Amino acid sequence: LKQRYLGQIAEAGDEAALESIRLAAVGKKGEVALKMRELGKMTPEERQVAGPALNALKDEINSALAAKKAALVDAALDARLREEWLDVTLHARSRPRGTIHPISQVTEEVTAIFAEMGFSVAEGPRIDTDWYNFDALNIPGHHPARAEMDTFYMHRAEGDNRPPHVLRTHTSPVQIRAMETMGAPMRIICPGGVYRADYDQTHTPMFHQVEGLAIDTDISMANLKWVLEEFVKAFFEVDGVDLRFRASHFPFTEPSAEVDIRCSWEGGTLKVGEGDDWLEILGSGMVHPKVLKAGGIDPDSWQGFAFGMGIDRIAMLKYGIPDLRAFFDSDLRWLRHYGFAS
Ligand code: PHE
Repeated sequence: LKQRYLGQIAEAGDEAALESIRLAAVGKKGEVALKMRELGKMTPEERQVAGPALNALKDEINSALAAKKAALVDAALDARLREEWLDVTLHARSRPRGTIHPISQVTEEVTAIFAEMGFSVAEGPRIDTDWYNFDALNIPGHHPARAEMDTFYMHRAEGDNRPPHVLRTHTSPVQIRAMETMGAPMRIICPGGVYRADYDQTHTPMFHQVEGLAIDTDISMANLKWVLEEFVKAFFEVDGVDLRFRASHFPFTEPSAEVDIRCSWEGGTLKVGEGDDWLEILGSGMVHPKVLKAGGIDPDSWQGFAFGMGIDRIAMLKYGIPDLRAFFDSDLRWLRHYGFAS
């Protein structure tokens, strides 16, 4: 009997088989229980031998069952571990990768070049008051520059008679904010988005500028020219440049100059530093005393130069991008073509 059950237990392939063996052997109506009932018919002498033997048998079968059950659970876990095995050394499935937008790329390039010359980066809000965008920059309410800039005005609630906020039309308001927070002397550039209601191949309602501002006790146009030459050489990766200052007018600079660089367009590609063409790249000048004053800086002790340059425009020039609007179309084929590896 014992050998039979122990043999069956050893063979049992799963817990269900084990359970039916248990019922047949040591269950309430199992074989051992039947034998226990027969004890009543025995003589006391026989019973004294058979009783303990049956109990020992029952114990033995029960512990064999428990041991086998534990072994089955272990085996099941082993099998699961073998089946659900994961090879973490396999190559990942390849996924499409984004590229760096040319505007981000050029902003980085410009920032790095000016950083080498000691300029830090300042930022301001894109929605600004008309005081920062205009008045503080010596553009009073009646000034034609306000109309020329095709300003987007923010709507105010009815009955709110404060002057409206504007979407900044240039990065020059950051000049004032930087003067207020940093004071003089200082050297900063301010890259960022600006807004004007205009749209064609070279104009989009949102575009990017980088402002430059240097204030010290004896800053002059000569310093401005040197800084711009260094910038143009580094940015266009050429050894020499020829800069031309053209007299101009901005309310916030005096004197004011637009800056052209000598170039040629051989076979449609731009070459900087040689040729007979001139390419306008930015507006600049000496910061107007009224602007210094608006920024809380004493124009009797300090002076400075400022310039403003179109980031999208110099990106188009450097990377041969023909249409400004494409920058903002989010066309994946265009982004893959003109974007930069990250
Ligand atoms: N803010 C001017 C513009 O948008 C550019 C500029 C900046 C000119 C600083 C002179 C000095 O067009």
